[in-house]
Amino acid sequence: MDTLISKFSQHVGEAVTIKGWAYNVRSSGSIAFLQIRDGSGFTQAVIAKQNVDESSWTAATTATIESSVEVTGTVSKHPKQEGVFELQASAVKLIGLAPEYPIGKKEHGPDFLLDNRHLWLRAPSQWAIQRVRNQIILATYDWMREHDFIKIDSPIFTPNACEGTTELFEVDYFEDRKAYLTQSGQLYLEAAIESVGRCFDFGPVFRAEKSKTRRHLIEFWMMDAEAAFVEHAGNMEIQEQLVSFIVQRVLENCQEELKILERNIEPLKNVKPPFYRITHAEAIAKLRELGSDIGEMDDLGADDETTLTNLYDKPIFVEKYPTVVKAFYMKRDPSDPSRVLNSDLLAPEGYGEISGGSQREDDYEKLLARIKEHNLPVDAFKWYLDLRQYGSVPHSGFGFGLERLVAWICGLHHVRETIPFPRLLNRLEP
Ligand code: 4AD
Ligand code: MG
Repeated sequence: MDTLISKFSQHVGEAVTIKGWAYNVRSSGSIAFLQIRDGSGFTQAVIAKQNVDESSWTAATTATIESSVEVTGTVSKHPKQEGVFELQASAVKLIGLAPEYPIGKKEHGPDFLLDNRHLWLRAPSQWAIQRVRNQIILATYDWMREHDFIKIDSPIFTPNACEGTTELFEVDYFEDRKAYLTQSGQLYLEAAIESVGRCFDFGPVFRAEKSKTRRHLIEFWMMDAEAAFVEHAGNMEIQEQLVSFIVQRVLENCQEELKILERNIEPLKNVKPPFYRITHAEAIAKLRELGSDIGEMDDLGADDETTLTNLYDKPIFVEKYPTVVKAFYMKRDPSDPSRVLNSDLLAPEGYGEISGGSQREDDYEKLLARIKEHNLPVDAFKWYLDLRQYGSVPHSGFGFGLERLVAWICGLHHVRETIPFPRLLNRLEP
């Protein structure tokens, strides 16, 4: 019977067949060991020469690292390790013999590994990261469904910018038009909430940012959420509930993965509501106390975020940034129009911004003035302004970068490992 390594505990003493790849091989005298991964997990097949026919023995002893194999045998409990199973082989077939594998046991530099990303993805650490990523995606969909958000797919080709005009990828849209790759589906979700109330999108977005930091990708996956009749405080509550749910789900379902990644899970256990909330003004004061020369109305840089998050044991919201450093669509704070009703959610342990959100400007005249102040083409935003004419409502939303969440939850230094095929300033391959 074909089975998966992850289901071995249900088959102790039974004969099963697994198909996968040998990630380590060794043999001595009349016994051979193939360490096999099949996508679901890792196991060791023990091949005793006396228990298999000649072709199986030949297959077991010629299999090289990363050769694909099919092994039939009896599942047994590991003599010493609780919860670990082995396969006592009765037959081995070689499916694809691999030449010498370029990724060895020695340390490789990031460029070499990224050049070989198509192979590097097989490493246990990379397997673990993709499984955590998948768990975050599933948890997001579950939370959204349980809280009455429906998925609305926003377009990738757009006629104008959402997040600032300097970071746009321009493409030819047939002979006589230019289109831009989306930076965020937010503006489209703002239209959709007036149909469905609460919604989210989850897809690739593009930023032509010439930045090379450990937090930046050129193409990344954003989850934008938007809700009618939700104001600034409610918007932060939604984010803290969602992020806590995601982290707890990963802790529940990815124990093996987090172990492979050597992630200290203690700080993650702490990720439960309420998160800390500080204003931008308070954040600046704290940074200055610590010796920074940051200006009162400056945006926070990545280093500032790292400094701040190291002061707290849970995620923190920094709210009410200066209007001048934030996007045109954010609603100004009625008690202080020099600031907006926004929040950046910073992950602890130095990770920094994982989610950005705000209440949106819902007044037609104020929004029009903001579009003009930002020198944006009013015509292109006519449809967006319409939303403030036909039954405008207070509403808010946010977007998280999937890769930033994966990097934090997995405890990775750089986002390049969090996406299967990273697109970086100097990398488009493979
Ligand atoms: O803060 P950002 O630019 O916000 C927006 O795009 C809003 N329209 C979202 C919304 O309100 N619906 O991006 C949102 C998140 C950031 O908090 C960060 O996690 C991630 O996207 N992000 C990036 N991740 C990787 N590489 C980049 N270059 C990123 N830029 C932003
Ligand atoms: Mg942001």
